[in-house]
Amino acid sequence: MNQVIETILNHRSIRSFEDKLLSKEQIETIVKSAQAASTSSYIQAYSIIGITDQEMKKKLAEVVGNQPYVEKNGHFFVFCADLYRHAVIGKMEEKDVEPSIESTEKFMVALIDAALAAQNAALAAESMGLGICYIGGIRNNLEEVVKLLKTPDRVIPLFGLAVGYPAKITGQKPRLPLEHIYHENTYEANEEKYTKELEEYNEVIKKYYLERTAGKRSETWTEQMGKMLERKSRMYMKEFVADKKLNLR
Ligand SMILES: Cc1cc2nc3c(=O)[nH]c(=O)nc-3n(C[C@H](O)[C@H](O)[C@H](O)COP(=O)(O)O)c2cc1C
Repeated sequence: MNQVIETILNHRSIRSFEDKLLSKEQIETIVKSAQAASTSSYIQAYSIIGITDQEMKKKLAEVVGNQPYVEKNGHFFVFCADLYRHAVIGKMEEKDVEPSIESTEKFMVALIDAALAAQNAALAAESMGLGICYIGGIRNNLEEVVKLLKTPDRVIPLFGLAVGYPAKITGQKPRLPLEHIYHENTYEANEEKYTKELEEYNEVIKKYYLERTAGKRSETWTEQMGKMLERKSRMYMKEFVADKKLNLR
């Protein structure tokens, strides 16, 4: 065990922050940490937008489905998949980069890059004693987010990251058993084994919710996932991404 691993294993999302802004140095350290992440073929296919305008934060908090911690935090970042600068490079270098930029592969590369950068940022913040919460809620209404942030074609805002001084620290959510997600050499697709492991995990989660909510909630993990996946959400995404000239071929 070292401090980095302790920080990683101590993660829990924080949704209540003190009324104290991050310093310029803290913001820069977090962004530099994000940039230090590995990046596919050195492509650096992401951008980070820091929201300092309080009115804009308020608007975003509404757009994401009224999540108050999007407005009240130490700083709010939006992570974007970004191939816009690569379209600019095409012109600079007089190369036909369009088919590549518009490919599913490069879209995946941009998503991976943005996620890796974001998790580095999250971990850097947590290592500084700050709390974080990712906000996928920005994908509830990307048209509105794009209008607010003025992102061009080839850029997709993916998620926000609220960072700040924790006002309330919650318990840690138990993860799936290691053996359930870690395979060696080949993927073991054994439905019977999966079902048994999931049933065992359900008991852990049920107990966790009962304790956390003083007996009010006793949902299992598979119940939660079943309900969530049955509900069609953000089904506009395929057309939205295509409209931004990504994932076209
Ligand atoms: C990409 C992404 C988007 C998320 N979006 C939201 C969100 O919009 N609102 C929220 O309260 N939590 C959000 N979360 C946090 C998850 O709900 C949380 O990570 C998960 O329940 C596990 O809990 P933990 O982070 O406390 O371990 C998001 C997490 C990720 C990775």
